[in-house]
Amino acid sequence: MSLLIKNGRIITAVDDYMADVYIEKDKVTLIGRSMEMEADQVIDATGKYVIPGGIDPHTHLDMPFGGTVSADDFETGTRAAAFGGTTTLIDFAIQTKGHSTLEALDTWHAKADGKTAIDYGFHMIVTDMDDDRLHEMRALADAGVTSYKMFMAYPGVLYVDDGTIFRAMRKAGEDGTVVCMHAENGIVIDEIVKRAVAEGKTAPKYHALTRPTRMEAEGVHRAISIAEVAGVPVYIVHLSSSDALEQVTQARNRGVHAFAETCPQYLFLDYSYYEKEGFEGAKYVMTPALRDKWNQDKLWRGLQFGDLCSVATDHCPFCFKDQKELGRNNFAQIPNGAPGVENRMSLVFNGGVVQERISVNKFVQLTSTAAAKMFGLFPKKGTIAVGSDADIVVFDPNRKETISVNNPCTHHMNVDYNTYEGFEVTGFSDTVISRGKVIVKDNTYLGRKGDGAFLKRGLYNGFP
Ligand code: URP
Ligand code: ZN
Ligand code: ZN
Repeated sequence: MSLLIKNGRIITAVDDYMADVYIEKDKVTLIGRSMEMEADQVIDATGKYVIPGGIDPHTHLDMPFGGTVSADDFETGTRAAAFGGTTTLIDFAIQTKGHSTLEALDTWHAKADGKTAIDYGFHMIVTDMDDDRLHEMRALADAGVTSYKMFMAYPGVLYVDDGTIFRAMRKAGEDGTVVCMHAENGIVIDEIVKRAVAEGKTAPKYHALTRPTRMEAEGVHRAISIAEVAGVPVYIVHLSSSDALEQVTQARNRGVHAFAETCPQYLFLDYSYYEKEGFEGAKYVMTPALRDKWNQDKLWRGLQFGDLCSVATDHCPFCFKDQKELGRNNFAQIPNGAPGVENRMSLVFNGGVVQERISVNKFVQLTSTAAAKMFGLFPKKGTIAVGSDADIVVFDPNRKETISVNNPCTHHMNVDYNTYEGFEVTGFSDTVISRGKVIVKDNTYLGRKGDGAFLKRGLYNGFP
């Protein structure tokens, strides 16, 4: 099979030029001006951008959490991602405490294999790591799982203590892998939550009011300090506040390999969403919580100047009707998480490029290239180059859509609300190609369940 994309404006993290792209099977094999090639399929990209498929390095599909399971599985979640212009996800396998991480990897392979629309990898969530289990980490890296996530939050669930963090980090550093951290002081936060509930403060807004930004900053500071001593690159996930960002900036200024992502929810939503009528605020119960609006400008600054290196979604959807309901009488029982995997590319393009905060190259860097470099996928993924996987999006910079659970162009996620309901965006993924196959065109899914493949990722390879 061959595919020719003609007349597009190719944009990578560093390039911006007019050319045609020729694809044979799953790879880009030729890029040139006005190529007159025979091809099985031709796409006219006149007036459009031709960009690398998005990479979302932070999703939770089919994840048991908060007394329920996230509403998108590997089939629905990856299909929704594809509609939004994302062609690679890195999801999380979760070690059951006291059990092997390799066993956990098998469990997550069974959830995903044969189901996905796009390529995917796994980070491993480590919930314990005794000395006699450390050897598993090398085996994980050999199996293509070259990054871990640990939680300073959620005591009694996913939380790990500093000793475990240090042991795992030291080994991860020796192996050339990366540690991702959910950085919030969960022990202190739990005390604040307990008191709030005892005082009858049970509405959704107390989720935010019991999680001070200072406790996120403390977690970030501690995570980076431990990583620095352990000798491992650390990647702070879902960074939400200016206080936390300051810690990343300070560490980077002294030369630590500290990286951080933020997410659209922290760039576009704020604390006021918790004050919506009735139980509506539950839709936005996610961790870290939404912050006061002024933090958003600081996060954009972090993206502009590089202290925040990528934008992921932390897509972790729970239906409002059946699942968020679990916490109607107590915010602490609301399953934490929100949908977003489908809307990331348009939101970042609109809020970033259209609103003149970042260049188009930076848009590609933040939504694709940085994650590919950080997590051992570059240059197979994250760019358009001869030899790279043909994961390509024909992106219309002028197409306008209103994001809504009721708009068939913007909502394919298996969840009964959209976090960005009513947001008007300019910039939309028209045609989505995954390893040389057109999987979305004209708002229609043309792929098949199981098109996506597991990605064995490489080791950490320097700065993203
Ligand atoms: O609220 C969130 N973020 N849910 C998913 C789990 C996590 O902390 O990443
Ligand atoms: Zn987290
Ligand atoms: Zn997460």
